[in-house]
Amino acid sequence: MLTIPVERATARAVIALANRAPSVHNTQPWQWRLGDSSIHLFADSTRSLPATDPTGRDLRISCGAALHHLRVALLAAGWSSTVHRLPDPAHPGHLAAVELYPGQPTAEQLMLAAAIENRRSDRRVMSTWPVPAQLVAELERAAEAEGAALRVVTGDADRRHVAALISHASIEQSLTPRLLEEAAAWSGRGRAAPDGVPAVNVPVGPDGTFAVRAFTTREQRQDTLGRDETDGTVLALLATVDSSPLDDLAAGEALSAVLLGATRWGVASDPISQPLEVPSTRAELRRTLLADWGEPQLLLRLGWASISAEPVPRTGRRPVDDTIVPLAAPWDALAGG
Ligand SMILES: Cc1cc2nc3c(=O)[nH]c(=O)nc-3n(C[C@H](O)[C@H](O)[C@H](O)COP(=O)(O)O)c2cc1C
Repeated sequence: MLTIPVERATARAVIALANRAPSVHNTQPWQWRLGDSSIHLFADSTRSLPATDPTGRDLRISCGAALHHLRVALLAAGWSSTVHRLPDPAHPGHLAAVELYPGQPTAEQLMLAAAIENRRSDRRVMSTWPVPAQLVAELERAAEAEGAALRVVTGDADRRHVAALISHASIEQSLTPRLLEEAAAWSGRGRAAPDGVPAVNVPVGPDGTFAVRAFTTREQRQDTLGRDETDGTVLALLATVDSSPLDDLAAGEALSAVLLGATRWGVASDPISQPLEVPSTRAELRRTLLADWGEPQLLLRLGWASISAEPVPRTGRRPVDDTIVPLAAPWDALAGG
């Protein structure tokens, strides 16, 4: 394989697209370092959520999503890549070394890249229209290709049980002041904020079948449908074989593959991590949906936004240059690097 230097302008452009990846509370907890013909992904634990995510799992899932976005953006720019995940045991914050060499995107890969700019987390109640089974099967394959499993929650009883677990986790978290403070600190922001969850992206009640995280200020209009089981939401669990940092990263790459695959066909999506952040609901999800196989990583809602729904506003991102540092820069600035 022949690696050749990548122009900085190209690297900057693909990183700008990678930074559009979803992240917990829109913390964007990553940093990129540029080599001549490589791009390195580092966890930025100065942007972590110590109360919500003490083990850094949500952080690594977010970074995995950014890594997959980077791979997709690179392909669209004519670059293939070989990824070395967690390449340096002495530096667990060095999440990936991405070696670049010229490549040709397929039409499907170009469609995924185009989906990056259109994807949003849509927390509103979805319409009654069912998501086609063929698309769900395609998304299951996309997750599998990234080393994770997408398990659709079928049957009214299981859906109701998972909805109850989401509510339970939400209530439990709302009783923990440190968690509430963290959610408040990262939400309720204006539209132009470079990070965090803007108030306009959080729906105004009435609540639907699945509880929305208690972010500050609910502003986005919500459809009234959904208290019963008539909404067409596909509820699915992303899971991995184990719970190592490598599994978390794979879950994030699979998350990105599923979300972009859904967006490419106009299907709305919404990650939900609250019941995975509370040990008791996490264990219950594992028992109910995985029969004790593997590790639950993230819940997802997939569905069609209702026809009359306003588009979900785009959330902000940090200036791209703030996320890039030279490869040789000292690593101490990033705790855990
Ligand atoms: C690991 C992870 C966990 C998330 N958990 C939740 C959640 O529990 N509730 C929620 O409403 N959004 C959740 N999100 C979505 C983020 O809040 C969202 O990606 C971020 O605000 C950026 O907005 P965007 O996805 O519209 O670009 C999560 C995203 C990731 C990657």
